[in-house]
Amino acid sequence: MNNVEQTLSIIKPDAVERDLIEEIKSIFLKNNFSVKEFKKIHLNKEEAAEFYKVHQSKPFYDSLCSYLASGPIAVMILEGENVVSKYRELMGSTNPKDAKENTLRKMFGISIDKNSVHGSDSIENAKKEINFFFKN
Ligand code: CMP
Repeated sequence: MNNVEQTLSIIKPDAVERDLIEEIKSIFLKNNFSVKEFKKIHLNKEEAAEFYKVHQSKPFYDSLCSYLASGPIAVMILEGENVVSKYRELMGSTNPKDAKENTLRKMFGISIDKNSVHGSDSIENAKKEINFFFKN
């Protein structure tokens, strides 16, 4: 396989609350992403703020961090060919209203905040985000 990459996936509190972990994982497998690591955790607000610090200048930063810390999440390392961009395509637009058919956010997202899933936006950020949750 050429160009095997890893990326970080988060199933956010709204999707965990609706019991969507297994359904979303099965979609990853259908898309030939392998799940290399998996854990269910509940971040506190400080940890959420550290994870999302690239967004600290945004007006929605505080509510974004409160939301991520509002309930359990599932975090995974996904691996596969060009998985960073393929997973972003599978997630769809940030706002579920704009997401295309058959994308995760179209299928499961409720709002721009409760958009069910997160994925790293570049190979470089994937490394940082994987390291945040899965330090050796
Ligand atoms: P995510 O891919 O996890 O990255 C940052 C999150 O900020 C994004 O998904 C959205 O859920 C959330 N968010 C809230 N408001 C906005 C906004 N106005 N623009 C972009 N992202 C937003």
